[in-house]
Amino acid sequence: MQPKLTAKARCVDGEVGKISKVIVDPLSHEISHVVVREYNGQQMDRQVPMSQIQEIPNEEEIVLRCTSAEFGQFPVLDRDGFVTIHDVEIAHLEDNLHVTPGEVLVPYPRLEHPVPRRSFFANMTHAIGALIALPLAFPVLKYLMKPMYQPFDNSWFSVGNVNKIKKENIGYQFKFTRGFKEAFMPEQQIEKNIWVVQASEKVREAVYGGEDKKFYDNKGDVVWVNKANAPFIGFSGKCPHLGCGYKWRKTRNFPDGVFLCPCHLSLYDEAGKVLDGPAPRALDVLPMEVNGAGEVKIIDIEYKAGVKKQIRLL
Ligand code: FES
Repeated sequence: MQPKLTAKARCVDGEVGKISKVIVDPLSHEISHVVVREYNGQQMDRQVPMSQIQEIPNEEEIVLRCTSAEFGQFPVLDRDGFVTIHDVEIAHLEDNLHVTPGEVLVPYPRLEHPVPRRSFFANMTHAIGALIALPLAFPVLKYLMKPMYQPFDNSWFSVGNVNKIKKENIGYQFKFTRGFKEAFMPEQQIEKNIWVVQASEKVREAVYGGEDKKFYDNKGDVVWVNKANAPFIGFSGKCPHLGCGYKWRKTRNFPDGVFLCPCHLSLYDEAGKVLDGPAPRALDVLPMEVNGAGEVKIIDIEYKAGVKKQIRLL
C-alpha cells in the first residue's frame, strides 16, 4: 500500500509528523524515501528511507521502526538536490505511483545505483540462456538482419529555418518526419527531432576544439564536413545514454537552461558536454548545413547509445 502525501507518521512512542513529499527512484519508479515534516522543533522535513517504515496500516498512517528521539536523527531534506516530476517527465511513473503530482521528488542529479544482487543473478541466468541458444538462432538471425547491413543513409532532410532561433546558446528543437524501414517490415514514417544551438565562439570551441568535424560513410569516405566556425550546431535528438528524447529546460541550478534527459537525468550544457548523469559521451553533433535563406538541412545519423565512442549505426 502507498501512504497518502498527508499521512501521519507515528514512531513506536508517538506521532512525529506528516508526510509532505515522497522521493522516487527514476529507474525503478519505486518510492525510495518519504519526507516527513516533523511536528516539533523547527518543523523540518526529514528524509526517511522506506526500509524504516515498519507498517502502513492504512493510507492515512505509517508506522516507523524508530523512537521519536531517533526520528530526529534522520537527515533534513536538501531540497536543492531534487526536482519535482513537473520538471522532468518520467514515462509511466503515474502507472505505479498514486500520489499528487508536484509533491513527488526525483534526485537531481541522479546518482548511479549499484546493480542489485537479485538483478545480477537474473541477468546472469539470461546471459547463460542466450549463450546456449545462440548457435541455434544464428542462421535465422543472419538472414533476418541482412537488410541492416545496407549502406548508411546519407540523404539530407530539411528541418526548418534558423529565423526561429532568437537567442544565442539556447537549445531550439526542430521536428521532422522521415521514412524508416526495419528488416522486412514495411516502411514507416517516424517523428524525429534535432536540437540546434546558435553557438557563441566559446561554445563552438567547446564542440569542435578549433577543428572541422568530418562525417564518414561505411566505406570510410567523407560525406560531409561541419566547419568549426559555423554559427549553428545541430545535436541528434537522442540521448547518448539509452536513446531517450531530451529537452532544453531551465532549472534551479541552471537558470539559463541545460539539456535535461528525463529518463535517467543526464544533463548537458549548450555545447552538448555532459554535466552530470550516466551519459557516456557528449550529445552527438550531426552533419548540418544552413543555406543563405536560413534553411537547416541535416543528415540524420544515428550512433550507438550507451557507449563512450561514437559508433555509427544508420
Ligand atoms: S536515456 Fe538515460 S539519461 Fe538519457
